[in-house]
Amino acid sequence: MSNIITRTANNVFDWVTARAPGMMPAYRKHMTEYYAPKNFNVWYYFGSLAMLVLVNQILTGIFLTMHFKPSAAEAFSSVEYIMRDVEWGWLIRYMHSTGASLFFIVVYLHMFRGLMYGSYQKPRELVWILGMLIYLVLMAEAFMGYVLPWGQMSFWGAKVIISLFGAIPVIGGGLVEWIMGDYLPGDATLNRFFALHVIALPLVLLLLVVLHLGALHEVGSNNPDGVDIKKGPKGNRWDANKPKDGIPFHPYYTVKDLFGVGFFLVIAAFIIFFAPAFGGWFLEHDNFVEANRLVTPEHIKPVWYYTPYYAMLRVIPDKLGGVIVMFSAIAILFLVPWLDKAKVKSYRYRGVFSWVMLLAFAFTFVWLGKIGAGPGTDPVETIIGRVLTFFYFAFFITMPLWTKLDRTKPVPERVTMHD
Ligand code: HEM
Repeated sequence: MSNIITRTANNVFDWVTARAPGMMPAYRKHMTEYYAPKNFNVWYYFGSLAMLVLVNQILTGIFLTMHFKPSAAEAFSSVEYIMRDVEWGWLIRYMHSTGASLFFIVVYLHMFRGLMYGSYQKPRELVWILGMLIYLVLMAEAFMGYVLPWGQMSFWGAKVIISLFGAIPVIGGGLVEWIMGDYLPGDATLNRFFALHVIALPLVLLLLVVLHLGALHEVGSNNPDGVDIKKGPKGNRWDANKPKDGIPFHPYYTVKDLFGVGFFLVIAAFIIFFAPAFGGWFLEHDNFVEANRLVTPEHIKPVWYYTPYYAMLRVIPDKLGGVIVMFSAIAILFLVPWLDKAKVKSYRYRGVFSWVMLLAFAFTFVWLGKIGAGPGTDPVETIIGRVLTFFYFAFFITMPLWTKLDRTKPVPERVTMHD
């Protein structure tokens, strides 16, 4: 049986190669002859998991689109219809809505890995920039998706976030109207967000992911030691000219990543089946009530993955100031490759001070997220929010200093393997 499969596969490959000679070399370049460092750890699962969730979002999104009605009059009830009457509709919808939050969890861990191992440093600046563009588009994509079910939080969230553009001098008012296509979020807004959410932004995302991986494969992957395997000894059991510390991506990492996929799917299934709204964190309670422009929800707040930035917006007293701070908080992440002046890539070989700064930064981000998810009425919390916002920026602005001054440990010549 396996003989027949192998022979058929070989025949198909030969047939394709005779007609498109460039295709097989591309497969070899990115899979069987892509030599990845042999010391990847759990942090390296999140890239392939991000791809898995992207595929999940696209597939479940296609099925939702078959039943969803993109109009202010029908959107909410069409989602109810999907949940109650469409066969397996509840599962498809929860896979999509929970999938959005899982996407951000995976992407945040993926980004943190990049920070921890200095994966943005030369020659991977482009990989980082493309990753940041993905992050930006992903935020826009999730925002527009959240507006579609036309619940209370869809409507009021859209109103608050789009109105932020109104803080821009001179053109602000006109810009808000142009984005909404109306004076309040309405049918026109929902229609355009639908078009952008189901086709325009997913296409951009897919393109950016291809470029992200293309850029990575040009220079090769970094690893937890931050040691460049291409500069190390040559020759492994597959190829005498390739790095000794590299192993073919396929089958070694495809199989390893499949283990990560299995583990991830178990956790994802538990959440999807038992807590799809995750206590109001993944789908807010107010969004189970249809949009009503005459009733404002008690607390308008975005989904958890935006709340660190939302907290910054809220703790700054001036509206334009808040908007500038919020967008700068994202923009500054683009500059990390040039702000980090450390001689070693991985934090494994950096000093205690660098670790303290990195962990304090992660803590700050999470705490800001908690403040942004709250009602925003506690004055003490507002002060804490300002201090945390200050530290958020201080982390980046002072990065050239502490990365340069902090002591580093000697980096090994070759990658190390930890049990
Ligand atoms: C849809 C979202 C994304 C997908 C599907 C994706 C996919 C991947 C994959 C498959 C890899 C190689 C495997 C790995 O290193 O884990 C990778 C590497 C990388 N990604 Fe992403 N990525 C995404 C978003 C991001 C974001 C938002 C950033 C940061 C701003 C980022 C930065 C990086 C970096 C720096 C590497 C190289 C890591 C290394 O070699 O150590 N990615 N990405």
